[in-house]
Amino acid sequence: MKWIVLAVALMLAACAPAAPKRSPAEAAAYALTLVPAGPRLSDLYAQSCRTCHTVVDTGAPLAGDRASWEPRWKKGMPALLSSTVGGLNGMPAGGQCFSCTPQDYEALIRFMADHEN
Ligand code: HEC
Repeated sequence: MKWIVLAVALMLAACAPAAPKRSPAEAAAYALTLVPAGPRLSDLYAQSCRTCHTVVDTGAPLAGDRASWEPRWKKGMPALLSSTVGGLNGMPAGGQCFSCTPQDYEALIRFMADHEN
């Protein structure tokens, strides 16, 4: 079994975009420096997603950490929106954002996943 895991890891490493390699602590420190564009999104983010998505121990994919977002990004935006609205394991339904619209969620997901364009 081990070789399969290794082979898959190697394949993923080979296909991964040229994202910088960061340790979890570096990724969390980097996540803390990021702020979404515009006052509305940055307020919503600061009050909700940021609480978990900048802290390694929460198990949340860190903001700006493409490596941990990439497998999730591949699920497609409708699936990501549905886990955001409905919750997923440690991810609470609505992400603790009580005034986020679907457009806000999409923008926040794009921001955290480093797929703003
Ligand atoms: C209380 C902590 C917490 C907050 C607040 C939070 N998240 Fe999460 N989020 C998580 C955790 C933990 C996961 C990983 C869940 C898993 O895959 O088991 C996650 C995963 C996700 C995912 C990936 C879902 C998937 O299908 O793979 C998205 C998208 C997401 N969060 C969006 C958001 C957005 C947007 C906000 C703010 C509006 C937010 N989260 C706020 C903890 C949180």
